[in-house]
Amino acid sequence: MALVSIFPTAEAAAAAVAERVLAKVSAEPDAVLGLATGQTPRKVYARMVEACGKGEVSFSSATTFNLDEYCGLPAAHPDSYAAYMQRELFHRTDFSPANINLIDGSAADEKSEASRYAALLRKQPVDIQLLGLGVNGHIGFNEPGSALASTVRVVELSEETLHANLPTLLVLDKVPERAITMGISDILRAREIIVLATGSAKADAVRRCLEEEQTADCPGSYLSGHPNVQWFVDQAAASKLRNGPRA
Ligand code: F6R
Repeated sequence: MALVSIFPTAEAAAAAVAERVLAKVSAEPDAVLGLATGQTPRKVYARMVEACGKGEVSFSSATTFNLDEYCGLPAAHPDSYAAYMQRELFHRTDFSPANINLIDGSAADEKSEASRYAALLRKQPVDIQLLGLGVNGHIGFNEPGSALASTVRVVELSEETLHANLPTLLVLDKVPERAITMGISDILRAREIIVLATGSAKADAVRRCLEEEQTADCPGSYLSGHPNVQWFVDQAAASKLRNGPRA
């Protein structure tokens, strides 16, 4: 059974996620963090930056693994997820560059880049995995149709994702059509999973993940098979749950 916490605002949900991550790193400074990009976790990262700046926490012994990366974009490209992570978190905190694991979207051989990343992940299981949720129920870039047993691989992005991610681009005028992503089975190997979903656009996906049977049509529904997953949602994202939003 997933634990679901519903907050009055997106800000409050993000603040609670940030406190969970900060508590984890304070208790286990060498924790392995699985990180997501996108609009949703930005306030989580802002709070982590603040806490580090005030000396409340140090990330210098922590290790990170990002979930995914667009194919074809070098790390320095402003629209790469590597650049997003540097902007939002890494450049503004004391994470050690040696402990930051990112997928190289510009690798000439994408399959061997996926294998390289899978091997790294096998060596260092994730302690706490932060996830956002796609409007179509994707987690990482595991689009509808992804298998439960999927591992790190090259994927084609769905039309819904290409559309949803368009407004997030800084330089490109078209979302890259392919990406490398951790698979569902990689995500489920994390010891603890935190899902942050906010806004009414996510309400359908949240309901499907929490109230429907596990199905490849909604990859986030596979999370219900994990023993330690907590959902942090705001009232808008919770608005289609059977019992409605509860503060
Ligand atoms: C990002 C990722 C995606 C996003 C999801 C939600 O690394 O893996 O699954 O978490 O697309 O994106 P936002 O937060 O922009 O709505």
